Amino acid sequence: MRKAYIAGNWKMNMTPSAGAAFAKELRAAAEKAAVDVKVMVAPPFVTIPAVAEVLKGSSIIVAAQNMNDHESGAYTGEVAPAMLKDLGVNTVILGHSERRSYYGESDSFINAKLRLAIKEGMDVVLCVGETLEERESGRLEEVLSTQVSGCLKDVSAAEMAHVTIAYEPVWAIGTGRTATPEDADAAHAYIRSLVASLYSDDIAQNLIIQYGGSVNASNVKALMAKENIDGALVGGASLSVEKFLPIMTFDK
Ligand code: PGA
Repeated sequence: MRKAYIAGNWKMNMTPSAGAAFAKELRAAAEKAAVDVKVMVAPPFVTIPAVAEVLKGSSIIVAAQNMNDHESGAYTGEVAPAMLKDLGVNTVILGHSERRSYYGESDSFINAKLRLAIKEGMDVVLCVGETLEERESGRLEEVLSTQVSGCLKDVSAAEMAHVTIAYEPVWAIGTGRTATPEDADAAHAYIRSLVASLYSDDIAQNLIIQYGGSVNASNVKALMAKENIDGALVGGASLSVEKFLPIMTFDK
């Protein structure tokens, strides 16, 4: 049985004080609603300490949205995994499409970060997904296959226990346009089959695959009802309790 995993990617939103106030409200609402799925929030780096303080002792995981591919050194403006771990952060989102497209992150660069994160004992949410042009030209499977195998290169079967994959079609992110539950499930099934061929059926069956791209209170239930959809990576709708709580309680 795969446990549902709902994550909020705050992107470049929430100052430390706004993030702390929001996290306090979110924690209270989640506790009141007895949320029993796995929940994660990923604030911007500088907002992490304030949010982690508020969420200390709660079941909500605090993650980072990115990290560097080196342990330390002369990498101006970057953040190393040990710095995150020192704050109690053990989960990191890697390969988000905004990082791929705005900052030129390649599969091999994401792979280097992913392997370092795992070496440091961290869990990773690895994002993959196609653009509209790639989907419409019939290249969905080719793109997913390249991204999944490139980002997981040299990751061992045992290390896969640290990996969650988020399928996020680029055309559905922040656009209000969601993949249909059927289309999303088909992409998830394909990703699962890729992981089965790279590793084993067992590892593929245990892999949590989140869907991301305009997830909201109205569409989450239909998405989560699909066999291969195990969670959601939520952007815009993770920034208010009113919108995020119904996503966390989709099964109630
Ligand atoms: P969205 O973002 O929910 O605002 O579409 C999802 C994401 O980019 O993770």
